Amino acid sequence: MYKIVSIPGDGIGPEVVAGAVTVLRKISEKHGFEIRIEEHPFGGASYDLHGTMLTDQTLEACKNCDAVLLGAVGGPKWENLPHEHKPEAALLKLRKSLGLFANLRPAKVYDPLVDASSLKAEVVRGTDFLVFRELIGGIYFGEPRGYDENRGWNTMVYERHEVERIARLAFEAAQKRGGRVISIDKANVLEVSQFWRNVVHEVHREFPDIELSDMYVDNAAMQIVRNPLQFDVIVTGNLFGDILSDIAGMITGSLGMLPSASIGTSHALYEPIHGSAPDIAGKNIANPIATIASVAMMFEHSFCMPDIAEEISQAIVSALAAGLRTADIAGAGDRIVSTTEMTEAIVTSLGS
Ligand code: NAD
Ligand code: IPM
Ligand code: MN
Repeated sequence: MYKIVSIPGDGIGPEVVAGAVTVLRKISEKHGFEIRIEEHPFGGASYDLHGTMLTDQTLEACKNCDAVLLGAVGGPKWENLPHEHKPEAALLKLRKSLGLFANLRPAKVYDPLVDASSLKAEVVRGTDFLVFRELIGGIYFGEPRGYDENRGWNTMVYERHEVERIARLAFEAAQKRGGRVISIDKANVLEVSQFWRNVVHEVHREFPDIELSDMYVDNAAMQIVRNPLQFDVIVTGNLFGDILSDIAGMITGSLGMLPSASIGTSHALYEPIHGSAPDIAGKNIANPIATIASVAMMFEHSFCMPDIAEEISQAIVSALAAGLRTADIAGAGDRIVSTTEMTEAIVTSLGS
């Protein structure tokens, strides 16, 4: 029996999580194992109900389950709250409390979607790289931080053990993939990045079979759109990883396609990389694939069932190959389907 906590959150969060939960239930029915899904409020939805973005109950539930499935948080309704009370701050608190130091963001172009990217098909076809974004350190958490009338400040700081553990995971992943890691930093300007680079190279000595190179983050942003095929594994800090993974999202056609796994030593959380998309919320038009593909990552990383992960990925490919497109990945002449129709097509492809 697997215990999963689902936290739909805000905006399109509940819509895409509903899709992912439908897939989870289908998988459990098909393979005959029990999955218990417990829903908890989080973010703006929790604030409106309980006056706080993250209740003790939600946090405790996340600490006492096998995996967390998260939609997204945030939106205009809550953006003028004091900084430390915003939904985004609660997300950082959740990640930190669960010790989720590694955020895996795979950027993979599905063949039927090569024409959905804003880049040329011949540039994006075959793209398949994996970003390791450090998730609970760097400028997102560094002290001091704050602002007053005349000044705003944050601190980008990395401790040795924080760089070592994410670098090690990235090298290990590369051993199972193409054997190449690119570490992305801004060592030409930032001391913290020079430190990052030094530590990554020290850890690299444990992995002589892996090819390591460094790239400055500004160049990396350009290289990802120029030639995404040159990347295998990327390892980078919190802020750079956030930005670069949204760029990677567009390579695959839409932010609505990119899943993620956030992993620590004792907990794991799965969420799409996109946000709450307030512009399309409540319309049943959001793309559920990023969240459904996050469930595939859950089976791979938390439940050690790569076959089921592959089954879910194949069901996504089948739905796409059959021509189904939500609005964000549709081209001229495509028939556009809703969130629920895309979910149903994927569930149908899963068979029985
Ligand atoms: P966003 O990712 O929510 O949306 C950016 C654009 O992509 C929008 O045009 C949106 O419609 C589109 N988009 C995103 N996901 C989509 C999907 N599944 N299907 C179709 N289109 C999709 O980013 P934003 O607009 O900058 O942020 C909105 C809110 O979400 C903010 O409050 C932000 O802080 C929050 N946010 C939360 C998370 C999270 O919870 N992990 C991540 C990013 C942003
Ligand atoms: C993401 C988001 C979050 C981040 C925000 C909402 C805190 O952009 O998950 O990519 O910056 O990590
Ligand atoms: Mn982001």
